[in-house]
Order: sequence, then C-alpha cells, then structure tokens
Amino acid sequence: MRTDNEYVLGTGGDEHERLGVQHRLWANATHDAWMRAGLRRGETVLDLGCGPGWATFELAQWVGSTGRVLAADLSDAFIATVQTEANRRGLTNVDAFVADAVGDLDQKLADRPLIDLAWARWVFCFLPAPQRALEAIGSRMRAGGRVVLHDYFNYTSMTAAPRCAFHDRAVDATARSWRDAGGDPDVAAKLPALLVDSGFDVEHIAVHQRVARGADPMFAWPNTWWRTWAPKLVATGYLSAADCEGLLATLTDVESNPRRFVLPPPVTEIIARKR
Ligand SMILES: C[S@@+](CC[C@H](N)C(=O)[O-])C[C@H]1O[C@@H](n2cnc3c(N)ncnc32)[C@H](O)[C@@H]1O
Repeated sequence: MRTDNEYVLGTGGDEHERLGVQHRLWANATHDAWMRAGLRRGETVLDLGCGPGWATFELAQWVGSTGRVLAADLSDAFIATVQTEANRRGLTNVDAFVADAVGDLDQKLADRPLIDLAWARWVFCFLPAPQRALEAIGSRMRAGGRVVLHDYFNYTSMTAAPRCAFHDRAVDATARSWRDAGGDPDVAAKLPALLVDSGFDVEHIAVHQRVARGADPMFAWPNTWWRTWAPKLVATGYLSAADCEGLLATLTDVESNPRRFVLPPPVTEIIARKR
C-alpha cells in the first residue's frame, strides 16, 4: 500500500535502485542539457522532484561550494536519503526539503535564495497541475534564469520489436495508471505552451530516442523498469498476472536474442528562459 506522499511508482528500495540505474544511463544527456543551458559555478539550482538525489549530488559538484542545490521532493523518505547521503559526502551546499510541486512549493521556496536554474526530470508527467509548478518556479527565479526539463511525450510509442502484445498491454496499462493518478504520459507536448504562459521563452526542444538491444547497456533501462514496475501494475489491477509473466519472459528473451530489441519511450528535452 502506498503512503500519502508516495507517487505512483513508489519510493521503496527497488525504486531507489532503479532510479540509480536510469540516472547512470541518462547522465550524459543530462550533463549535455545542463551545459546547453549554461549551468555555472556559484549558481542556485532547484532540483524539483529530486528523488533519492542521483542528479542532485552531481549538480552540487557543478555549482561548487559557492553555489547551492535546492533539492525538493514530495517523498519524505527520498528527502531523508538525500540529506543522509549529502552529509556522508560532505556536501554542505545541498538544501533538501519536502515540497509538493503543485501544493506548497511556492511557500517552501519563499525564504530560500532566488533560483538561477530549475531542473526536473521525469517529474512533470506525474503532476496533476503542471502549471502550478511552473508558476512556483517562475515566482522565485531571476530574469534570465533557465528551466531545463526532461520528460515524456508519446510515451505509448514504447515498443518491443517485433511487436509483442504483452509489451503493448503493459505500456497501455502504465499510461492508464499514471493518468488515473493525475499524471500525463504526454505532458511534454503541453509544456512549451505552459512555459510561455508562465513567463518563459522556450529556447530549445529536442527529442532523445534510444534503442535497447539485449547486449546494450541501455537494455538495463527497460529491463529494470518492467521488472520493478510490472508487478506493481498487477498488484493495482492494471495488468493481469499472465500478461506480466509474458512480458518478463519476453524481456528475458530479448536480452539474449540479437533478432529483437526494445524501443524505449522518447525523452523530450526543453530549455526555457525566464523573461
Ligand atoms: C521518476 S522519479 C524521478 C526522480 C529524479 N528526478 C530522477 O530523475 O532521478 C519522480 C520523482 O518525482 C517526485 N514527485 C512526484 N510528484 C511530486 C510532487 N507533486 N511534488 C514533488 N515531487 C513529486 C517523486 O517523489 C519522485 O521522486
């Protein structure tokens, strides 16, 4: 059973580890996006929906001791992890706090330094009112500050190749589950308009599409995703146990079968600047 401040994917040890694998595989694209947005030493960065902090600690290195990372998440379990790990690493420039991006974020930011750059990856797709988060960010950002987003549009294009009904049904179940929880697996399609309405100029939109063959490092992304998430879809009634079993058997085959691959969901990158 989920607690009140757990998002739909959960915040247990399995999700913590999965987010770490995912971060490693997406670290290069993430660093490129920060570079493109001109992230500099000494800046104050908001890591919105920071999770257990995989990107937070890298941001802390990028901005250095003269900068600051405001790490905000809905989950008190993830925030406790970020605090403990920041202490263990001796990172004194990480300020981790619980905040709801569509609730009290503006209040939580009110007595903290103004933001130079806001980063949010795979967060807006879970928000019931993304506009509220952008308004909260905008209200505490300097003119010329940047928002850097990695999120989903066309999530349901995720496919096993050749096509496989088990995989198709799991993707559909995922989209339904997120929507029922108030999220939107197509949110990145709406973000440019929401950014413009919230006082930002959109400077850059790009799409990162990956291919995951069984022998590729990138295969760990769909593989860890389905092995942690599909059983949760079964537990919540979105997927049958038989479909879950079929899906996981498919992944086992893809892993060693050079004739097959997975097309993971495309990740949309958006960079916008505060007017
Ligand atoms: C898929 S994880 C991504 C974590 C991190 N951004 C990363 O890239 O590793 C989504 C995160 O968004 C957080 N989240 C979901 N809804 C939120 C909300 N309303 N306010 C703040 N954080 C939220 C979750 O707790 C979770 O840590």
